Amino acid sequence: MVIQNISGTLAETLRHRRQKLSQLIDFPVIIWSGSSSPRNFSANSYPFRASSHFLYFAGLPLHNAAIRLEAGKLELFMDDPQPSSALWHGETPKREEIAEKIGADIARTMSELKYRGSGAASIPVQNYQTTLVQSKILQRQISASSDLEGLDMELAKAIVTLRLTHDAEALAELRKAAAVSVAAHKVGMATTPKAKLEAEVRAAMEGVIIAHNMTTSYNSIVTVHGEVLHNEKYDHLLQPGDLLLADVGAETEMGWAADITRTWPVSGKFSTTQRDIYDVVLAAHDACIANIRPGVEYRDIHLLAATVITEGLVDLGIFQGNPENLVEIDAHALFFPHGIGHLLGLDVHDMEDLGDLAGYEAGRKRSDRFGLSYLRLNRPLRTGMLVTIEPGFYQVPAILNNTDNRKKYQDVVNWEYLSHFNDVRGIRIEDDVLVTAEGREVLTAALPNDVDTIESLVHK
Ligand code: GLY
Ligand code: MN
Ligand code: MN
Repeated sequence: MVIQNISGTLAETLRHRRQKLSQLIDFPVIIWSGSSSPRNFSANSYPFRASSHFLYFAGLPLHNAAIRLEAGKLELFMDDPQPSSALWHGETPKREEIAEKIGADIARTMSELKYRGSGAASIPVQNYQTTLVQSKILQRQISASSDLEGLDMELAKAIVTLRLTHDAEALAELRKAAAVSVAAHKVGMATTPKAKLEAEVRAAMEGVIIAHNMTTSYNSIVTVHGEVLHNEKYDHLLQPGDLLLADVGAETEMGWAADITRTWPVSGKFSTTQRDIYDVVLAAHDACIANIRPGVEYRDIHLLAATVITEGLVDLGIFQGNPENLVEIDAHALFFPHGIGHLLGLDVHDMEDLGDLAGYEAGRKRSDRFGLSYLRLNRPLRTGMLVTIEPGFYQVPAILNNTDNRKKYQDVVNWEYLSHFNDVRGIRIEDDVLVTAEGREVLTAALPNDVDTIESLVHK
């Protein structure tokens, strides 16, 4: 546990966040940290990750703990370790000590929580065992899949209001995650010429993250099959003509995330067709970032990416027609089927445990359009928001060979000519962009993304 790292400023920040929450709601709140899930017996567990809402207000990744907030007062509930635990885990901080570090007014045992649940709001933890405890203490059914209602919904909305924009302490953590992720990608590029398998590049990249005492903020994607959007297999051989897509991000000890994708040639040299498509994706990436500033609709940034990609593909002869008209009929989604990005913070898709509550402005709903249904953020941008910008180009067989798509887009794609680009299965370029009063700051800008520099980094 990282108790020694809690600085005075962090304790002050935590207090400030809790104060702001108490200004938005006037009912008691209990937030659980969650517990680890056993693999085969309780002492052999899957890696523990505390609930992000708990981390936001309590700061420490405590196991089996809860905080109760009412009228600005904070109670910490957790059990001290059994005496026998010292044999296996060494001496660990006591409840009272932790309470002092996080600025709690009082420390209680977990069993005392059963008298404090009535009338409290909460957020379901993504862990079945904990939701059972939550239901018992709150004396009502609560489950990770339930739609929030009543006070729970009011609490969720208040938390979204706070977590949508980042304070200085959060930004310091997010910058650390970004810097380590940048270093991991550079090592991934430099490792590639010596590697035979995707797994070796993944190991080198995650090695940098682990060496900084961080973890990955999501399961790494390191693949020569970038068209499989969330590919989590690493067993392909690297062949000289392949592009390698690496979507790898670090998470700090306090839980703050980065999310970066780069795509580079295994041989260190893009083919002409790979370079042509890469430059189309990069043009979309650069145009989107240049347009980020407070007040801009993120949906318009998505549509800008769609338009720039479509224009580029018209210029290359893959599409035929007017780019705006092509975007209107969602032709771009044949090759760019996902959204331009999402919120980033304590989670890589920040607050998606709350469905679209964080991502979508009140009153807005997901579109069912082919080209918009995976848009995860649909709000006007505000200073202090952190978003990803991640355009891509993919040749997904399930999309391109779909008979309905073939029929609908028969005349707008030069299907025969498309086969010239068979060595481009998947390209994505992803950066983390902070919305500032002046416009934007790319937190991951230290990682180059232009073709020439990428080639030189792979060859280094
Ligand atoms: N790493 C997952 C994503 O980019 O959304
Ligand atoms: Mn992302
Ligand atoms: Mn990503």
